[in-house]
Amino acid sequence: MKNGLFLSLEGVDGAGKSTHIPFIEQQLQQLGVEVVVTREPGGTPLGEKLRELLLHEPMDTRTETLLMFAARNEHIKQTIAPALAQGKWVLCDRFSDASFAYQGGGRELGAETIEILEQWVHPDLWPDRTWLFDLPLEIAMQRLHTSRVLDRFEQEQGEFFVRTQQFYHQRAQQQSQRFTIIDSSQSIQQIQQQLQTQLQELVAQWQTP
Ligand code: TYD
Repeated sequence: MKNGLFLSLEGVDGAGKSTHIPFIEQQLQQLGVEVVVTREPGGTPLGEKLRELLLHEPMDTRTETLLMFAARNEHIKQTIAPALAQGKWVLCDRFSDASFAYQGGGRELGAETIEILEQWVHPDLWPDRTWLFDLPLEIAMQRLHTSRVLDRFEQEQGEFFVRTQQFYHQRAQQQSQRFTIIDSSQSIQQIQQQLQTQLQELVAQWQTP
């Protein structure tokens, strides 16, 4: 059986990616694809416990980074790899690109440390397609601060998100074959139209023998 495709969604907090996950799931189901929707940090019982700590417990940046990758390792072994091997598609709300951007950039750990951890934890597994939801930071911050109670990352100040966004852009340039940048300042309807077209193409390619 053909392996499923691995899709991920990325962007700074407030970029609106979470709005589009149910839409993508529904589109894929309508196109006859079996899809597993999951998230990072999280996606397994242990990963969800680590998420609680990561989002709310103060800790050193290296501890934070190692816990992100610990949760990711568990997620890959228990959820992502088995689903892909069964021919299911996996739609993941954030993956290693978030560690690259948030810990590498935002927390200033640098690209190299993250690349070493990626090589250690998932040398052979990368998303087939990553949508980067991108928009001016002022709009993202406005959306964020009107929406809800903020977690440890969301409480960070401007410069943190400037670096995070720069690292996202850098990665999207370096690995342009799998990245698609979505202009997230457009209306939800415009974005969904783009996503719909791209999903139809992806499914058609995947179904071609
Ligand atoms: P997020 O997708 O924003 O969850 P929600 O929409 O429910 O708030 O993810 C939680 C936070 O975790 C987000 O602020 C980014 C952060 N994060 C990292 O810093 N590094 C990582 O590797 C991952 C996966 C997430």
